[in-house]
Amino acid sequence: MRTNDVIEGDCIQVLGAMREGSVDLVFADPPFNIGYQYDVYDDRRAKADYLNWTEKWLAAAVRVLAPHGSMFLAIGDEFVAEHKVRLDALGLTMRNWIVWHYTFGVNCSKKFNRSHAHILYYVRDPKNYRFFPDAVRVPSARMTTYADRRANPVGKLPDDTWMLRPQESDKHFQPDSDTWHVPRVCGTFSERLGHPCQMPEAVLDRIIRVASEKGDLVLDPFAGSGTTLAVAKKLGRSYLGVELSEQYADGVRKRLQMIDFAEAATEPVKPRKRSVAKR
Ligand SMILES: C[S@@+](CC[C@H](N)C(=O)[O-])C[C@H]1O[C@@H](n2cnc3c(N)ncnc32)[C@H](O)[C@@H]1O
Repeated sequence: MRTNDVIEGDCIQVLGAMREGSVDLVFADPPFNIGYQYDVYDDRRAKADYLNWTEKWLAAAVRVLAPHGSMFLAIGDEFVAEHKVRLDALGLTMRNWIVWHYTFGVNCSKKFNRSHAHILYYVRDPKNYRFFPDAVRVPSARMTTYADRRANPVGKLPDDTWMLRPQESDKHFQPDSDTWHVPRVCGTFSERLGHPCQMPEAVLDRIIRVASEKGDLVLDPFAGSGTTLAVAKKLGRSYLGVELSEQYADGVRKRLQMIDFAEAATEPVKPRKRSVAKR
C-alpha cells in the first residue's frame, strides 16, 4: 500500500482497496451537508442520500482500523447524532464526545451564533488502544490559579471541551490578526491555505500526539487542505489521505513539500572541514 501521500479519488473506493486492520489512527472531517462551497463535491444532498453514503464510508473506515486503532470524527450539529448511532452500530466504543469551541463562528441574526464543532472519539477495543497522556498534558487550575501544593506537577489531561483562543496559541493566532469573520481557520492566520473548511493544526496536533506513536499510520479519508497529513508528517507518523478534488489534492502535495523545504532550511549548517595547508 502506498503511504505518505494523498490519493486523488473517492475514499470509499480507496479504503476498499486497503488491507483490513492496517491503520492505527483515522481522523475524518467529512462534508457536513450544510451547503459549503467545495469545488467538486455537492454539500447539499438529500438527507437519505447523505446518510446512505455516510454509512458506507464509515464502514470502510472501520474495516481498515487496526485492533488497537482509534478514530476521531469531526461533524456539525446537523448530523452528529446520526454519526454516533452508526459508529456504535459498527461496534466501536466511544471514549469522548469532544466539543471544540472555536469562538469565531458565523454571525447569526435569529439564533445564537454557533461556535463549536463535535469531535467524536472512538476506539475499536476499549481494553487495548493507543493513548499517550504525557504527550498532551496541560497545567491544571490547581497549578495556574489556586497555587495549590497538592497539584500534580506534571499537569492533567485536557478536558473534553477544547478551546482554541488567540492568547493560547501564538503559532496559530497572531495577536494583531485575530479577525473572526471566517469559520475555523481565519483568513488572516498564517496557516490559512485556500480550502473553505481548513482545520487548525493545533486540533490535529493534540489528536495525533495522544492516539498514535512515531511510525504509526494516520489516515484521513477527506484530506481537504491536508491538515492531518501535514501534522502527521511533522510528528514523524506515516500518513495517507484521500481527496476527491484534483485541485485540493494538488494543494495538499504542495503543503507536504513545503514541510520538507522548511525542515531543510532549519537544519543546522555543518561546519566545513578546514583544509590544512601543506608546507
Ligand atoms: C470538511 S473538508 C475536510 C477539511 C480538512 N479537514 C482540512 O483540514 O482541510 C471535506 C473534504 O472532503 C472531500 N470529499 C468529499 N467527498 C469525498 C470522497 N468521497 N472521497 C474523498 N474526499 C471527499 C471534499 O472535497 C473536501 O475537501
